[in-house]
Amino acid sequence: MVAYEQIFEKNRRWVAEMQSSDPDFFEKLARDQTPDYLYIGCSDSRVPANEIMGLEPGEVFVHRNIANLVNNTDLNVLSVINYAIVHLDVKHIIVCGHYNCGGVKAAMTPKDMGILNPWLRNIRDVYRVHHAELDAIADSELRYNKLVELNVLEQATNVIKTATVQKSYMAKGYPVVHGWVFDLHSGVLIDLNIDFKTILNDIRSIYDLTGMLSEHHEDGDF
Ligand code: CO
Repeated sequence: MVAYEQIFEKNRRWVAEMQSSDPDFFEKLARDQTPDYLYIGCSDSRVPANEIMGLEPGEVFVHRNIANLVNNTDLNVLSVINYAIVHLDVKHIIVCGHYNCGGVKAAMTPKDMGILNPWLRNIRDVYRVHHAELDAIADSELRYNKLVELNVLEQATNVIKTATVQKSYMAKGYPVVHGWVFDLHSGVLIDLNIDFKTILNDIRSIYDLTGMLSEHHEDGDF
């Protein structure tokens, strides 16, 4: 564990390291950001977005919350998605969950979690939608892992339900939405290979918002 007092010392060391490999690093960093990726992941301290993808500062736009949820009334995540698409022009949106997720574990536990109840209920809702598949898994650890994966699938689907994603994809052919899981035991990122185009086509009968284009709505629509 790093002592609080050491953090600024570590920062100065990091600055020196970055400058030794590229003297203009911070000058370039200050100029602009042009990330190709939006990463939506869990707040868990063991799952740092840039590090697990091997990306440098400036290469990925990041949003993290407990259990990587994309809630349709969460102005925070919706603003991040909108900004990433409309202003940063990202090509890929990644929803990344992880095994051993405390948020998912808590949602599988019949317990009053206070202020966390409405947040975790989003995961309980994922369980309800997939309860037949989940209840068929006898091993509780495997069921837990499966819920982590299904939660990623559902949150990625929630990203695809937004008007911002649908409009951009119809107009430009991107962003493409991906679902990943990070395995803490091995450090390996697993691509769940969610079928973006099929999900988009399947949900359009109910969630299609691209008709709004003809009504001259602004890009800020959710
Ligand atoms: Co987590």
